[in-house]
Amino acid sequence: MLCYLNGKLVDRTGAVVAVEDRGFVFGDGVYEVWRVVNGRLFEMERHLDRLVFGLRELRIAAPDIVQPDVFTSVAEQLLASGGLQDGEATLYLEITRGVAPRAHAFPAAGTAPTVFMMANRFVPPNEVRTRGAAAITVEDIRWLRCDIKTIQLLPNVLAKQAAAERGAMEAIMVRHGIVTEGSHANVIGVLDGIIRTHPTTNLILPGVTRAVVLDIARRLGIPVSETALQERDLSRLEELFIVGTTGDVMPIVRLNDQPVASGRPGPIARQLYSEFRAHMDACCGVARVA
Ligand code: PDD
Repeated sequence: MLCYLNGKLVDRTGAVVAVEDRGFVFGDGVYEVWRVVNGRLFEMERHLDRLVFGLRELRIAAPDIVQPDVFTSVAEQLLASGGLQDGEATLYLEITRGVAPRAHAFPAAGTAPTVFMMANRFVPPNEVRTRGAAAITVEDIRWLRCDIKTIQLLPNVLAKQAAAERGAMEAIMVRHGIVTEGSHANVIGVLDGIIRTHPTTNLILPGVTRAVVLDIARRLGIPVSETALQERDLSRLEELFIVGTTGDVMPIVRLNDQPVASGRPGPIARQLYSEFRAHMDACCGVARVA
């Protein structure tokens, strides 16, 4: 299987990044993950826009790969090399500030960013979705620029590991009594019939799935309020679900070993998932790459 590294398609097992890469040494980089259905990328431009935003905020020079035509061509070759033109896949793109002697300040102007991309087969977690997943709450110990999708993911890794050790699928992060988001998904609750989710501030990643799901909810006439849930609201939620590229809409039916409402996936989560999936299937043609 091939991957893309600094302008070339190379065998993935033999691909090598320099030990002085600032991604390796400082976590100095950004990434994106796309969902691919039958060789077509879902919401290609929105993910690229978020990546470009992150590069700009971190003042990393944007490499050619962020141009939609270059990106699409590389994606097409990667998907073809992996036999991934049919069925479900994901694409991962990472850009770091490049290779330079270890020093905290930026390297010399002109240091080329490192660009890595790979495609992988993906199996959507549909069985778990039918019965609903478990989650735990953890303290949100991240920095104050969670709106940038950086490769520095230690708090997310520790949160997800804490969930795994308690037999849960996701960790829901809470900062000073406010529910922010999951370790790799946004969090939505239904309270008093209203869909509630943290607004897109510096404290969460502005999820592409979140934006699409909220649009669908508004179209369906379900009231939406982008106001954060409090931790104390969690015990009286009518529904709870997480939304993200690798889970779509996933009902959470147990939180900290207690049932959420009836302990079964709720009607709003089920309806939003079915509309979201139909939308994803219909939309993938927009960015056809295979
Ligand atoms: N994560 N919040 C965080 C912290 C995330 O890492 C992600 C996605 C999301 C959902 O964003 P989107 O709907 O655009 O995928 C929210 C990716 C999938 C990952 O880290 O693998």
